[in-house]
Amino acid sequence: MTVKQTSALAGAQQDQARAATALAHPNIALAKYWGKREGDGNIPAVPSLSVTLSGMSTTTTVSFDDTLVDDELVLNGEPQAHDARAKVRATQLLDRVRAAASTTSRARIESVNDFPTASGLASSASGFAALALASATAAGLDWDPSRVADLARRSSASAARSLFSGFVELEGLIARAVAGPAALDLRVLVCVTTEAEKATSSTVGMKLTQAASPYYEAWVTDATRSHLTMRDALLRGDFSHVGELAERSALAMHACAMAAGIVYVTGATLSALAEVRAMRASGLETYGTIDAGPHLKCLVRAEEAVRARARLEAVPGVLRIIETAPGDGARLLGGPP
Ligand code: DP6
Repeated sequence: MTVKQTSALAGAQQDQARAATALAHPNIALAKYWGKREGDGNIPAVPSLSVTLSGMSTTTTVSFDDTLVDDELVLNGEPQAHDARAKVRATQLLDRVRAAASTTSRARIESVNDFPTASGLASSASGFAALALASATAAGLDWDPSRVADLARRSSASAARSLFSGFVELEGLIARAVAGPAALDLRVLVCVTTEAEKATSSTVGMKLTQAASPYYEAWVTDATRSHLTMRDALLRGDFSHVGELAERSALAMHACAMAAGIVYVTGATLSALAEVRAMRASGLETYGTIDAGPHLKCLVRAEEAVRARARLEAVPGVLRIIETAPGDGARLLGGPP
């Protein structure tokens, strides 16, 4: 091989190392995280347990480029302004990667969600998981999933869980898989009730809850206890007990937030929850959970998903249903597209 060919090959490899594409799925917390420990680091006040969901995904490409004067973010095809919230948060994550990799290069980020962004459908979880994995890889950092999860957690704590497959726990700083996707034969029916962005972000909602909810201390005590019970139920493969605890966790979280004036649910959310409970009363075993947005997520056994879906599609205010199942953690898709 000539020197010219060798240097061309080296250049191509270097370009490869400076760009990477990652795909991550969102996750839905069965035992919710709501509230942060005091101090920096974005450390949750309570342990949480989630399921990573195939059927929805974020794909993100990060390319470091010495000619850029600022990071650039294109989100779902839309270039984001320098001071847009998503762009500021992405740059904060990239600053941590740059510090670890001893580089000052700016990066171009292109990220696409195949589901509504920022409306309480966990887009920040899959978004920061994909961004953390793509940017660390593009910067040449050979990090294991736990280290990438720690990077993701600092931007959005729930994102740490999307690095792992199946059922995943986040306790303090540490995210880890508790059981594989096959641990429960579960389907999660996401009842989409709006395509709009939510008014109050999780971060802000949590801060207001901690500052003003008279139930916050009780929430922390209860969430810590019920997380352990849920983990045991999950490891026994007990769908009913996991479902009961999941619905209870969501209602406790929302009750705590509502007492501080933070309301994420709408009439459509509550109609869908009422249908879930009516199904359960009539023998079709379903449970509901709600994150920081108006969408209801219905937990159901795989073999009963078709029946539950038909019932939920008929609920006024439910625009469409995304059917998801326990899935894999974030992964690299190879070089630049
Ligand atoms: C209700 O992870 O979005 O979905 O760490 O401030 O970015 P930040 O919050 P985020 O909160 C998720 C809250 C939740 C419950 C959960 O996913 O555990």
